[in-house]
Amino acid sequence: MLCLAIETSCDESAVSLLESEAGSFRVLSEEISSQTKIHEKYGGVVPELASREHLSALPLMLDAVMEKNQCRLADIGLLAVTQGPGLKGCLLIGLGVAKGMACAGNIPIVGVNHIEGHIRSARIANSELSYPYLALVVSGGHTEIVQVDQLGVYKVLARTKDDAAGEAFDKAANLLGLSYPGGAALAALADNYLTENRGIIERDLALPKVMRGSNDFSFSGLKTAIVLLIRREGTRIADESRRAALAAAIQEAIVDTLVHRVEQMVLRTGITRVAVCGGVSANRLLQKRLAALSGITLFVPSKLHCMDNATMIGFVGIERFQVSRVGASNLEVRSFWPVEELGVP
Ligand code: KG4
Ligand code: ZN
Repeated sequence: MLCLAIETSCDESAVSLLESEAGSFRVLSEEISSQTKIHEKYGGVVPELASREHLSALPLMLDAVMEKNQCRLADIGLLAVTQGPGLKGCLLIGLGVAKGMACAGNIPIVGVNHIEGHIRSARIANSELSYPYLALVVSGGHTEIVQVDQLGVYKVLARTKDDAAGEAFDKAANLLGLSYPGGAALAALADNYLTENRGIIERDLALPKVMRGSNDFSFSGLKTAIVLLIRREGTRIADESRRAALAAAIQEAIVDTLVHRVEQMVLRTGITRVAVCGGVSANRLLQKRLAALSGITLFVPSKLHCMDNATMIGFVGIERFQVSRVGASNLEVRSFWPVEELGVP
């Protein structure tokens, strides 16, 4: 069966064509079109511009994927589309296109939760990842540790009270003069610094360890501490090596907060399989620190599937359809959609 998957929840338009057969699947084609260049000058995603861009990019991407695989609408056995959570106007574009195709081709359609896509993305390359496992979801909009008991059964063990880890990276990157979103650029600067300085952070740049006593995450306090630290540096941040030292200290503080909470949850639940997913999971220090936690096995998606992509949406769509055998009708956008509400298909 061929599954065509569409993702438009934020600022990436993505399309993937997957083939599933007897419990296994392979990706025939996948395309991601990032809108970073459009939103860069505003320092964040502008929802109206994002929807408009999805509207112009998506039909071209779909045509390209179908043509490349010599595939017609009649060959598609399943449509999977991100139904939420995300920006309403953006979700509407993907969902509208999918519903139109479903109607024209009489194809079943599965509405997929974007966070469920991230949670399960570690299983795309690691089918041996068995239940239960803990998923650390770290992206521009989400920071959660989720206990995954089976398809659709999720318990959120820790969530952020305010900002997401990705936002903390991006805010700090912005203050260091790096262009939006900036998380990956800050990490690259920090990693270079650590390589040249034998992994040692400048002592006078150490940031406070916040929210140690709580079960949840909070990045707003850390963000304020980062702002104050950079302000204190004054004109010294004009110096490239000082900026790199700051980047290393900031990365250390954010990563340490995430790893500390994962360690706590592993101890509390006794679950030792840990998956890390979402854009921030591409961070090398985060992967290294998690992998070094004693007694755990770490699962990381491929770099492409760490960020927003349609393959993870198709993967979940296929998993759900294989169980339920029914497509949905009258799908509506769900811009707020906690994973605990999902349930088994
Ligand atoms: O999952 P994602 O692609 O989109 C959202 O759903 O938000 O995550 C994007 C976030 C951005 O905040 C970006 O700066 C961050 O992931 N990011 C990183 C790295 N690569 C991407 N943060 C830290 N280190 C990285 N290597
Ligand atoms: Zn995402």
